[in-house]
Amino acid sequence: MSKFHPLTVARVHRETRDAIVVTFDVPADLRPQYAYDAGQHLTLRARVDGEDLRRSYSICSAVQDAQLRVAIKRCADGRFSNWANDHLAPGATIDVMPPAGHFALPPDAQSARRYLAFAAGSGITPIRSIVETTLRAEPHSSFTLVYGNRSSAAVIFREELAELKDRYPGRLNLVHVLSREHQDIELFNGRITREKCEALFAQWITVADHDAAYVCGPESMMREVTAALEAQGMPRTAIKVELFAASIPQQAHVPGARPRVGQSECEVTLVIDGSQRHYTMAKDRESVLDAGLAQGIDIRYSCKGGVCSTCRCKVVEGKVEMDANYALEDYEIARGFVLSCQSFPVTDRVVLDFDTDH
Ligand SMILES: Cc1cc2nc3c(=O)[nH]c(=O)nc-3n(C[C@H](O)[C@H](O)[C@H](O)COP(=O)(O)OP(=O)(O)OC[C@H]3O[C@@H](n4cnc5c(N)ncnc54)[C@H](O)[C@@H]3O)c2cc1C
Ligand code: FES
Repeated sequence: MSKFHPLTVARVHRETRDAIVVTFDVPADLRPQYAYDAGQHLTLRARVDGEDLRRSYSICSAVQDAQLRVAIKRCADGRFSNWANDHLAPGATIDVMPPAGHFALPPDAQSARRYLAFAAGSGITPIRSIVETTLRAEPHSSFTLVYGNRSSAAVIFREELAELKDRYPGRLNLVHVLSREHQDIELFNGRITREKCEALFAQWITVADHDAAYVCGPESMMREVTAALEAQGMPRTAIKVELFAASIPQQAHVPGARPRVGQSECEVTLVIDGSQRHYTMAKDRESVLDAGLAQGIDIRYSCKGGVCSTCRCKVVEGKVEMDANYALEDYEIARGFVLSCQSFPVTDRVVLDFDTDH
């Protein structure tokens, strides 16, 4: 069910001092499984210093290129990202789960939309895919991308973005905001904060002219950009956000924090790949995901922190409560979707469907 496949690394390109771009070969028989939408991510799995690590990396290529490519930026003291930067080389194989995630709006060739995008650091990876995919698929749409970095040397996809701007004249407006390198236009110096957004909206970007916004980066930046956009009247439903796990401290579950309803145990049924798996678990001790994994059930997951949405499923019977959710949007929750890594049963019986996307 978690469907990892070993894929061969075709190319590794050192994009900046701290980031590599990795391209995978996908054998012909696996190509349908690895077809992707703009903004989706892959979960990579590797043994690093004897530990089995899973991490999500967003696909950075345009959908039209059908090229499985990710950028991995070193995180200070990060285990996987440093291992990947030091060890991944052409010819290596690594376990890769098929694409997942629901960050981007589906392209519509007929529409003439004006999009805003805000990215910081490695947050550019899904945005790069979304921008190029959209410019190619929606000939009448345009993008304004605000991209924050420390210095121009740290800008991932600096050349590719400049090429995109040249290829689509007048349709990609690119604003580099740098925090540790001085640029002539004072407005473009500093970090992407709420204040910076307010200044950009006063002098450079008219939010009201835009239909939707994509935001990807650290949690604080996403909160501030979202607040600034909403203050300008952009509805929350038009703001799509993607959070990268590195900025979120994992929260430990606190047993007994909620009043218990009914029995202390819950009968769980998981629908996975068309078949049903059953187990009994204590309601408040571990998540539905951890209890299922302990039963030997192959359930897909990556961050276990409520960030990546790899473990998303739908509650079709009963009720669960989530500890944290940084991944699902309100409309998904309204339809019954939950993150199984964060879900604790409330009712005596729950049925969770991992197969449905609707
Ligand atoms: C949907 C999604 C898409 C993503 N896409 C990308 C992408 O395209 N490119 C990219 O580079 N990243 C991406 N990420 C982030 C990526 O998944 C990893 O989180 C990132 O590479 C760090 O992993 P790591 O193993 O190197 O760091 P970890 O070892 O997991 O550490 C993460 C951070 O926490 C700190 N830390 C670790 N342990 C402790 C501790 N005990 N106490 C305090 N601090 C600690 C580390 O210093 C480090 O800064 C994405 C994440 C998500 C959820
Ligand atoms: S495994 Fe990442 S949200 Fe559950």
